[in-house]
Amino acid sequence: MTPEELTALQLTRLRATLRHVYDNVAFYRDAFDAAGLRPEDCRSLGDLARFPFTTKADLRAGYPWGMFAVDRSRLRRVHASSGTTGTPTVVGYTEADLDVWADLVARSLRAAGARAGDMVHVAYGYGLFTGGLGAHYGAERLGCTVIPASGGMTERQVRLIHDLRPRVIMATPSYMLTLLDEFERQGIDPRATSLRVGVFGAEPWTEGMRREIEERFALDAVDIYGLSEVMGPGVAQEWARTKDGPHIWEDHFYPEIVDPVTGEVLPDGAHGELVFTSLTKEAMPVVRYRTRDLTRLLPGTAGGPFRRMERITGRSDDLIILRGVNLFPSQVEEIVLRTPGVAPHFQLVLTREGRLDRLTVRAEARPEATSEGRAAAAADLARRVKEGVGVSVAVELVDPRTLQRSAGKLRRVVDERG
Ligand code: DLL
Repeated sequence: MTPEELTALQLTRLRATLRHVYDNVAFYRDAFDAAGLRPEDCRSLGDLARFPFTTKADLRAGYPWGMFAVDRSRLRRVHASSGTTGTPTVVGYTEADLDVWADLVARSLRAAGARAGDMVHVAYGYGLFTGGLGAHYGAERLGCTVIPASGGMTERQVRLIHDLRPRVIMATPSYMLTLLDEFERQGIDPRATSLRVGVFGAEPWTEGMRREIEERFALDAVDIYGLSEVMGPGVAQEWARTKDGPHIWEDHFYPEIVDPVTGEVLPDGAHGELVFTSLTKEAMPVVRYRTRDLTRLLPGTAGGPFRRMERITGRSDDLIILRGVNLFPSQVEEIVLRTPGVAPHFQLVLTREGRLDRLTVRAEARPEATSEGRAAAAADLARRVKEGVGVSVAVELVDPRTLQRSAGKLRRVVDERG
């Protein structure tokens, strides 16, 4: 597809989506009316910026069926967000939506280096979370053999990988580290396994983590991005060939980057909040959905029409403001992974002393570190954080294998401020 062909396709699909939601979802009709806009007022992709945003709060307010644009009887499946902060969000799919989703995950897997005939071990959780089933149907669509392992029961997963010899694994990066530990505990060399491609996402991870996983297993680790409100896994996928950030499947999802405070649309290359409009969804289309994920848009690789996004540095929700300094857990992850003697397992513990917030990086020592080595590593890590982020933190190095391991999406921050 040329860029012009893509733009034309996007505009046709965008206009159809705006019409579909205006006719079928009271929330959008009211919002467009309040802004004095009709679907036909969108004559170019740039006109989309005149339309109102949709937020997570809007989806919650519509719980459970308020945001749907088709009759409930046409839904073939629902998923729901974990709802850690209040009302869960329900999302749903028609037959055609499930078909597109499987196609896009198949496309993602192929870009990641998987091929028909490969065996794919799916360690994303199955159930209301979109990770497991989303990955599953996409891998089947590509023509792979799926091991639907889901999350947890790590000992058994290691055994299955060892015995069935999958070439591809799909998991959260933090769960991949949990599997790594278990391989070592069972005395199996992770580099000697059959795994050659890892498709990791659902949580932020860094280049440092990529290096760690690629070196300790002998595989190519690539980033898969998605969110349930927009579809699930497979909204964007990094290519094994270039490893330069996920390419957005722009024929189905139109991305914008906006200033998180003013909502102003920013040009490609500028950092801001990622906003998506679905272009083909039937059951629950979203118009200008504020993801709260922070990134920027970059040109596509090798002349392709689809733009890339930079690996997500954090969500606006994850931002820690410590004595006036902004800090994302991923910045600490990058530093932890560069610090000799420190393992890639850590938590950020927030406490309050008097009126001051205090941050402790609680990290595991590498098993080979001696006790002097450990003290030096702790001091080294504190110094690197101070230099890299500009804020003083306490560092507590704990024994190997003492921090809780991830079974899916990892929670990095432990807030003990009460
Ligand atoms: O996490 C969908 C998914 C499943 C994506 C499996 C990839 C693999 P939600 O539970 O709705 O959906 O969470 C979506 O997770 O807004 C991001 O904040 C974060 N996220 C997802 N993928 C990545 C990634 C799934 N590759 C939220 N890098 C999103 C960083 C990610 N963050």
